[in-house]
Amino acid sequence: MSTGHPLGIDVGGSGIKGAPVDLDKGEFAQKRLRIDTPAVSTPEAVCDVIAQVVDHFDEVRSDSPIGVTIPGVVQHGVVKTAANIDKSWIGCEIEKLLEDRLQHDVVVVNDADAAGVGELHYGAAKGHEGLVILTTLGTGIGTAIFNRGVLVPNSELGHLEIDGVDAETMAASSAKTREELTYPQWAERLQVYYRRLEDLLWPDLIVVGGGVSKDSDEFLPLLDLRTKIIPAKLKNKAGIIGAAVLATGVQNERGRHTT
Ligand code: BGC
Repeated sequence: MSTGHPLGIDVGGSGIKGAPVDLDKGEFAQKRLRIDTPAVSTPEAVCDVIAQVVDHFDEVRSDSPIGVTIPGVVQHGVVKTAANIDKSWIGCEIEKLLEDRLQHDVVVVNDADAAGVGELHYGAAKGHEGLVILTTLGTGIGTAIFNRGVLVPNSELGHLEIDGVDAETMAASSAKTREELTYPQWAERLQVYYRRLEDLLWPDLIVVGGGVSKDSDEFLPLLDLRTKIIPAKLKNKAGIIGAAVLATGVQNERGRHTT
């Protein structure tokens, strides 16, 4: 059976998750598959798992694109940074590696960019025309910037240096867990971080994603910002959905350029 749906695959620190995405609805077309991220998460080991995910959805048509997210900067199919993943990713030509292996069109993007695209198309920032920043609070802080619906890729604002410290090391949700901070204590750090973001970029809207966003009632009301700040809506589906959207867009672009 062929569904014609693009496949989105989200590579995270603990799990690699994928599903075909119905782009009309912004929903998974089938139940998501999750496989543990290998303990030593080198590109080769992760590619093996990605291939298993693709095999599982063997009805993915050969002309359906696959979008894959990576928690690092991805420029022209090459991974450039690896703050919270195995350093062997740096310099890896991941898009080419996966295309050769899977014999599919593959588009590899930064994880926060993908989550932002998901939220912009179908979630908390749906249809927003202004300057929107999505942040994901997890092991690190991922960011995605949009102006008039256009993504500025690889923004990496989780690494803003604040008081001599890489922001994500003090304000990611991993810092809350590591240092056993209460929500009010953590919110003080988020206040400093988001205030800096709004002072530098003057967004119209900030969307807060990442697993902890399900508890946003515990910390978002404690923040005092000029900018409207709201929780993400698609929860842990955003990356998969956004990756599928981006992959489809790039495939269409490539098609236009070759005809
Ligand atoms: C990485 C980003 C990534 C974010 C969330 C940061 O440490 O530098 O590329 O988007 O973590 O995974």
